[in-house]
Amino acid sequence: MTQVIAIDGPSASGKSTVAKAVAKRLGFFYVDSGSIYRGITWHALENEVDIHDADAVIQNTRSADWVFRAEQNVAVFSINGYTPTDELRTARLSEAVSDVASMPKVRAFVNDRLRELTGLGSLTIDGRDIGSVVFPDTPYKFYLDADPAERAQRRYRELVETGEAEKAQEVLESLKRRDAKDSSREEAPLKVADGAYVINSTSMTIDEVVQAVIDKVEGDLR
Ligand code: C5P
Repeated sequence: MTQVIAIDGPSASGKSTVAKAVAKRLGFFYVDSGSIYRGITWHALENEVDIHDADAVIQNTRSADWVFRAEQNVAVFSINGYTPTDELRTARLSEAVSDVASMPKVRAFVNDRLRELTGLGSLTIDGRDIGSVVFPDTPYKFYLDADPAERAQRRYRELVETGEAEKAQEVLESLKRRDAKDSSREEAPLKVADGAYVINSTSMTIDEVVQAVIDKVEGDLR
């Protein structure tokens, strides 16, 4: 039977690193649901669509050819034959994505794609509403959190590694705006799903968080 492990939480809580590692250890496919929202936003910006016009955004999204496939144990997608990667992480896109993700029809489009991906096999998905909305019946729901100062530190360390430390203030302000929008929107806001296992990773290493998730999943499977 295909299983879904949902890992939700705010930005820079370590979700993607943990979800990827858990997927690898359990032989599941890793799905980054945020990358689909980013892909929709990127495609809209590329076509100079007004990203505040929900009808235009959804029309632009639906009229593109989306192809999802598995690469190693990661689900990836192309839009009209192109697979965007670094383009999905620009400051401009990160600033715009939460507005696009607040549109109900955009969310329905993404949710349909995520549910179809169970056709690949068992999945570990990170996001904001995977346990609360997309797969509410999965027994494997996690909410990963960390204190805001620690999350800011983690993002800062990433920026130092990529030689962009001077952007720290700007990036952190943008991240705060995104978290505020994601938590306060009407449709599928970021929240702890019913029955989710909350892990505060502030003083934990990545390996400890991964192990905590695996112990819980394996304990429930037993
Ligand atoms: O995970 P990531 O930070 O890349 O997600 C980018 C944005 O996509 C989030 O800030 C949020 O607005 C949106 N998102 C969402 N629901 C998800 C995953 C991401 O609304 N399940």
